[in-house]
Amino acid sequence: MNNKTTRWMALIAVALTLWGCGEPKNTTHSGQTSDALINPQHAGAGDYAAQCLSCHGTQGLGQEALQAPALTSLDPVYIARQLRHFRDGVRGAHPEDTHGSIMAASSAGLSDASIADLTGYIDALPNVLPAATIKGDVAQGKDYHLNLCSACHGSNALGNVALEAPALAGLNDWYVLAQYEKFRGGLRGAHADDRWGVQMVRLAPAITDTDILESIAAYLATLPSEA
Ligand code: HEC
Ligand code: HEC
Repeated sequence: MNNKTTRWMALIAVALTLWGCGEPKNTTHSGQTSDALINPQHAGAGDYAAQCLSCHGTQGLGQEALQAPALTSLDPVYIARQLRHFRDGVRGAHPEDTHGSIMAASSAGLSDASIADLTGYIDALPNVLPAATIKGDVAQGKDYHLNLCSACHGSNALGNVALEAPALAGLNDWYVLAQYEKFRGGLRGAHADDRWGVQMVRLAPAITDTDILESIAAYLATLPSEA
């Protein structure tokens, strides 16, 4: 089975999950569903509705069941790079990276113009802090963050534009954990063209203890996602 076939199979599996156990829509008093598209006139709204909404949701808040993360706190430079990386096989191409390959299949046909529009659309979504799901020792997590992560991701975890290190505040805590483990396992960041991901690949072996990672994720979930 070639890589493309694997990706499509993964995508179909997710589509089946979606159809099988979709959440009922909430209806507001005005009779409008609360999952109406935000900023429908914005460039990229049509592409987002057709190609992204099914997994990342109308508000860009993601769905843990699909491992599709919240997108609302991401920086536009970072969003555009990830979409190019998924499309070009730099991220999500590792054979064991099931969820990355699903996202790669979802980006396969995107033009540069569509990536620019989608990035603008996501950037304009209201910034919502995801609910915390992981319990951990927040004080320990803070200590690790300040000593091991803040040099690149910033002391408040709001990212560092010059280093192109993304904000970690505002990410889903389960997503932080999953991505860290992917970097450590070489499932993300190992591609020769991924000069940002490789920084995480080098750093990731510094923490192998899941309790410590959970503490970091729990600490990050306490931080505001805007300065
Ligand atoms: C079939 C479900 C699915 C669809 C459709 C989908 N995504 Fe994703 N997306 C995911 C998953 C799963 C991940 C997590 C990938 C990983 O684990 O590396 C992801 C990750 C991402 C990321 C990376 C976030 C980060 O913090 O690095 C961005 C950006 C993104 N998606 C944007 C989009 C956009 C824009 C579209 C529409 C073109 C889209 N996605 C369509 C499932 C989906
Ligand atoms: C040497 C700089 C550096 C250090 C130190 C560092 N990071 Fe990163 N990190 C990066 C860069 C650059 C990226 C973006 C990778 C990419 O573009 O794919 C990143 C990405 C991430 C991501 C993925 C975010 C997303 O939205 O998908 C997570 C999670 C993460 N880092 C967690 C950590 C944690 C936790 C620590 C400390 C234990 C840490 N990082 C330390 C540079 C660093």
